[in-house]
Amino acid sequence: MPVTPVQYSLKPPKSKSKYNGNGSDNTVYSVETLIRAMLKKHHTPLMIIRRSILEKQYKRFRKHLPDVTPFYAIKANSHPKIIKTFIKFGSGFDVASGAEMKRVLELGAAPSKIIFANTIKTPEDITFARRHKVKLMTFDNEPELYKIAKYYPGAHVLVRIKVANIGSIVELSLKFGVDPDQAFFLLRKAKALGLSPVGVSFHVGSQSTNVENYLQALEISAGILKEAKEKGLQLKIVDIGGGFPIQHFDNEIGVNFERMASQIRRVIKTLFDKNIKFIAEPGRFLVGPAGILVTQVIGRTFRNNKNYYYLNDGVYADFSGMIFDHCRYEFKTLRRGQKFLSALAGPTCDSFDTLSDNCEIAELYVGDSVYVKNIGAYSCASATAGFNGFPPAKIVMV
Ligand SMILES: Cc1ncc(COP(=O)(O)O)c(C=O)c1O
Repeated sequence: MPVTPVQYSLKPPKSKSKYNGNGSDNTVYSVETLIRAMLKKHHTPLMIIRRSILEKQYKRFRKHLPDVTPFYAIKANSHPKIIKTFIKFGSGFDVASGAEMKRVLELGAAPSKIIFANTIKTPEDITFARRHKVKLMTFDNEPELYKIAKYYPGAHVLVRIKVANIGSIVELSLKFGVDPDQAFFLLRKAKALGLSPVGVSFHVGSQSTNVENYLQALEISAGILKEAKEKGLQLKIVDIGGGFPIQHFDNEIGVNFERMASQIRRVIKTLFDKNIKFIAEPGRFLVGPAGILVTQVIGRTFRNNKNYYYLNDGVYADFSGMIFDHCRYEFKTLRRGQKFLSALAGPTCDSFDTLSDNCEIAELYVGDSVYVKNIGAYSCASATAGFNGFPPAKIVMV
């Protein structure tokens, strides 16, 4: 049974902080000293992105999938410093709109390292891609092919197929992907329309811990490549999408990128010709573990037999991932001591803006920090107007 907390203690105990590291260490001590140091310089809410972790994740991806070129999906977090960091590492980029394309180009990404990976594109955005020589794009339906052929003759196209998203936290095959048995027909159609059909793409759903999704999708892709070759169409690229999972909780089990990658590697070696190029569109995997969100308690009360803490960030802002990304987070504090069953809520007037009803957390005081690790993806990104680069309506008063 959780212990009923003492209500309204007057003075919080003092805490010490000293930060000497660069944020690369993920131990509790190092994370907390980093947070304490940052709080001396910055207000909350504060999203700390650790460059060292971006590098660690990028290197992990490259090491375990050496034959798969990553195109960072900037929808996960399009902060310019993050994009610049990945440009330095040599990454490619997956963009979902003309606005995202503009952003990566302005920051210095080469057009040849960009894939326009939204199967539904506006004529303006396709024209923008043509003007900036961003040739590679995905599609999954015939009308889209006519559109691409009209606005970007000769574009290089990958057909996105519908694949199993079993067990993935965010389902991405409901809205996108053609049935695999239609893929060759569409690729042939692309050629007839003057486009250059170059391959196949898929997405197994975001936060996919089920490697079978990838293995099955690769097998289906190999079948499409084989059929195309037999019928005189030599495809060159397989885009294995994003979906690579991360740990959101310290003691989470069932997330093992290294093991998944070794199975993917094996299937790639067995099923495909050596000359096939593999690319991927990881978002969450590259940026999620780098983010630490630090919030502050702005109010507290005792309600429903538990402590209620109101934080200065909620589901309408950096915790938006709890809604759109179906994400659950581990809430931590800098306070030690006995933990009590508590509720955490965001600052807005809406009761829906509740972050946790049953969090075991030390007693907190107004001004105390509550932080969450592994929150660098789809948090601040979906909180801002213009997720994926699509702006909300302009307001006109008449
Ligand atoms: C087309 C496409 N590529 C890549 C991604 C990134 O996926 P993840 O963050 O799971 O790696 C997404 C996510 O929605 C997507 O829709």
